[in-house]
Amino acid sequence: MGRKLTVNGAVHDVDVAGDTPLLWVLRDTLGLTGTKYGCGIMACGACTVLVDGAATRTCALPLDAIGEQQQVTTIEGLAGTSRDPVQKAWAELSVAQCGYCQSGMIMSVVALLAEHPDPSDAQIAAGVTNLCRCGTYQQVRRAIRRAAEATRDA
Ligand code: FES
Ligand code: FES
Repeated sequence: MGRKLTVNGAVHDVDVAGDTPLLWVLRDTLGLTGTKYGCGIMACGACTVLVDGAATRTCALPLDAIGEQQQVTTIEGLAGTSRDPVQKAWAELSVAQCGYCQSGMIMSVVALLAEHPDPSDAQIAAGVTNLCRCGTYQQVRRAIRRAAEATRDA
């Protein structure tokens, strides 16, 4: 039986089993392939999106856990929004190496900066626990600082 799912401001009718992980609904049903599959056990953060603004891992999160009124935002929904300073900082500082983890990383950072516009090192460490096999952690931290400054100056 179908149900509604709101992603990046658009309401979709989706007809998939309620225990399907949200990640696969986004990628396979809606074609939003910017969100990646890494571990499948909620450990790496590659599959992170925003649900009502909160960073949320989706690889083992059943579709039924998302209410029809809730707002899901993926990396595709960020461009041109007030959250864009994060992606801008990422590009300016060439953060990505292979890039595979980076959309999930960026979504975690967007949620972090919404809660902590000028995050401390401890807040960054607690809020951005995504894993990066390329070891971009230093550049990620620089880009968080750049995005925070740009957001404050805007
Ligand atoms: S793929 Fe979801 S946390 Fe790793
Ligand atoms: S940039 Fe390659 S895994 Fe993070």
